[in-house]
Amino acid sequence: MNIPVLTIDGPSGAGKGTVSRAVAKLLEWHYLDSGSIYRSLAIAVLQSDVALDNLSQITAIAGAMQLEFDCGEVLVVRLDGVDITAQLGTETTGNAASIVAAYPAVRAILLQKQKDFRRLPGLVADGRDMGSVVFPDAEYKVYLTASAEERANRRYKQLIEKGIDANLFQITREIEERDRRDQERATAPLTVPEGATTIDSSSLSIQQVIDAVINLVR
Ligand code: C5P
Repeated sequence: MNIPVLTIDGPSGAGKGTVSRAVAKLLEWHYLDSGSIYRSLAIAVLQSDVALDNLSQITAIAGAMQLEFDCGEVLVVRLDGVDITAQLGTETTGNAASIVAAYPAVRAILLQKQKDFRRLPGLVADGRDMGSVVFPDAEYKVYLTASAEERANRRYKQLIEKGIDANLFQITREIEERDRRDQERATAPLTVPEGATTIDSSSLSIQQVIDAVINLVR
């Protein structure tokens, strides 16, 4: 049986997480936050004091790590039984995730873990290569983007709201650096998947983006 999949790819900070979660809830489909898999690996690597260029150790950790996801109102992730949710969203984790995610061997190991999320009645999958590599046969594909400036502004506001000290200039530079790494890597780079509908969220509200995505599926 063909299990329907809606893929939502795009650069960091475009609103994929918020939109994907809301759409999955409305459709009553499962939700895959693939970035959290790379982020979990980054946490495991940083915790083991393994250098980010030590490929053999990183692949060993990727193969051995046990991940559990509770996809309720908020995503809870356990790594080898330990709740790592609080560390998932930090800039350190995100930047390290984009470094380990550039290794083809790492991506190969994590591929099946992602495919396993495809269960009835359907799946909303959010990431960089959901429509191009992990679920190329997805029925619905969205490429959600926004200008780097707008994405940096949103990230800055989020951090300030959480009471975390932030520097807009530094965030903009990190976002541009992460975009460059995600787009230029040889394996599964961030691209607009074939057959995807592009939505630029720069001047849209979250609700407008959710409506646009839901219209595509219904
Ligand atoms: O989406 P999120 O910011 O959580 O992803 C963290 C990093 O993981 C990204 O910058 C990207 O390098 C990597 N990633 C990936 N492929 C995915 C999802 C995330 O390479 N499908």
